[in-house]
Amino acid sequence: MSAPLLEVRKLSKSFPGVRALKGVSIALQPAEVLAVIGENGAGKSTLMKILAGVQRPDSGAILMNGAEVEIRSVHDALARGIALIHQELNLADNLDVASNIFLGREPLRGGLVDTKRIRREARKFLDAVGLDVDPATLVGTLPIGCQQLVEIAKALSVNARVLIMDEPTSSLSAGEAEKLFKVIHDLRSSGVSVIYISHRLGEVKKLADRVTVLRDGENAGDLAREEISHNGMVKLMVGRDISQFYPHEPHTPGQIVLEVAGIRTPAHPGHALSFTLCAGEIVGVAGLVGAGRTEMLETLFGVTPALGGTMLVAGKEIAPRSPLEAIGVGLALVPEDRKRQGVILEMTVRDNVSLASLRKDQRAGFRNGRRERELSAEMIGSLRIKTPHDRQIVQFLSGGNQQKVVLGKWLALRPRVLFLDEPTRGIDVGAKQEIYRLMEELAREGVAILFVSSEMEEILGMSDRALVMHEGRITGELARAGLSDEAVMRLATAGEKVAA
Ligand SMILES: Nc1ncnc2c1ncn2[C@@H]1O[C@H](COP(=O)(O)OP(=O)(O)OP(=O)(O)O)[C@@H](O)[C@H]1O
Ligand SMILES: [Mg+2]
Repeated sequence: MSAPLLEVRKLSKSFPGVRALKGVSIALQPAEVLAVIGENGAGKSTLMKILAGVQRPDSGAILMNGAEVEIRSVHDALARGIALIHQELNLADNLDVASNIFLGREPLRGGLVDTKRIRREARKFLDAVGLDVDPATLVGTLPIGCQQLVEIAKALSVNARVLIMDEPTSSLSAGEAEKLFKVIHDLRSSGVSVIYISHRLGEVKKLADRVTVLRDGENAGDLAREEISHNGMVKLMVGRDISQFYPHEPHTPGQIVLEVAGIRTPAHPGHALSFTLCAGEIVGVAGLVGAGRTEMLETLFGVTPALGGTMLVAGKEIAPRSPLEAIGVGLALVPEDRKRQGVILEMTVRDNVSLASLRKDQRAGFRNGRRERELSAEMIGSLRIKTPHDRQIVQFLSGGNQQKVVLGKWLALRPRVLFLDEPTRGIDVGAKQEIYRLMEELAREGVAILFVSSEMEEILGMSDRALVMHEGRITGELARAGLSDEAVMRLATAGEKVAA
């Protein structure tokens, strides 16, 4: 057998207080899709950043076609045909789509960037990922799912031999993800190798030729194509069986705590939204990307104040004009896009966790150091946040652990009504179950929970009741007894087409 296209031998990498990689080895064959999976903080992104020249290893070797190579920079990696699509999007918001795709490699014409040409060229790559936006659109104005597709188009444009995708589908809708899978198949047929990182094991099963599992910075095992199964992967990842994945037990709802009547959002001013939420109830909000679910939560939480309608919390009319007002009446929102709205990356875990609740209890400007320490210890424990200590700067945590900090921050508020927007996006199977448990526990304590999710299984597994949205409207409400895949899809597409 010939040498692998890319091989990593006994690679190690430490950060202050953390040994992220402890002698990891992997091998990648030509035209192979290799999935790399593992719990949050297992070292996946660190390994990929080393391969892409973003970080340097402490020790170990990287070989291409059997010969040892040194990858000193991103430029070096690209020259060797290795491109990485980052877990945390890496685009310039203030540039248009085409400029982002060709950033640093712009074709010049008479000393100036040939804008016409890059827009024309960009179109090809956008078509390849099935993204129908004007290349002249500013990236910052696009929804996160579209930004992700731009990032993928950008990676395609460098003609990589090894394309690394670090959780590429975490912000894509089912339809967008399908397009990506097709792109991956086409790449493989044309001889490109793909390293694919995902917490969605269903995808891994569908796509991977082979799976390498990392646990705590070490190799935990490999699975060949015919050995790949959900349970097999989970066992290697967490070292134990996870039974009863959704801990949900139907609740007997209490009194109505939130009553929304005819609320109109700036995003979809033509549609009025109405529903109620009871104490101790978990209500899922399903719909396709673009259905207006995030916009609804943002309006209820005062981020983009309502254009009309009324909202009652525990019988009292409120009209939050800002998140601070919403927090004041007992609402909390865990946002979808943690990097922009969820955490302050430059601050510590402890400060982030206590941030929102401090604003609420701060008396005469004093901070309560002991309370802050207790709160962060509690959240690190109950959410199993992987961090050396609570003074760690959040940007040094792995992606999934950052997400847990966002959750911790809002849970520390002890809200009456909790809005969750894609609460388990980018979170590993073990921690997902922890979050479901936490939702159960909060509901049992009487918190009313409204959660938006694009994962059908999660909607079916965790909801007492589900609202389904389509193009800014609530097209239906399903009681637990009537909850099914088909029923949700029918309402989510408003009867236009039922998914096969
Ligand atoms: N720049 C850094 N400084 C300090 N610690 C870091 C840094 N980058 C990563 N780490 C730590 O290294 C470990 C591995 O992180 P990594 O991002 O590789 O995990 P991951 O497997 O990608 O996890 P996730 O599934 O959450 O994305 C974690 O404990 C993380 O906190
Ligand atoms: Mg990662």
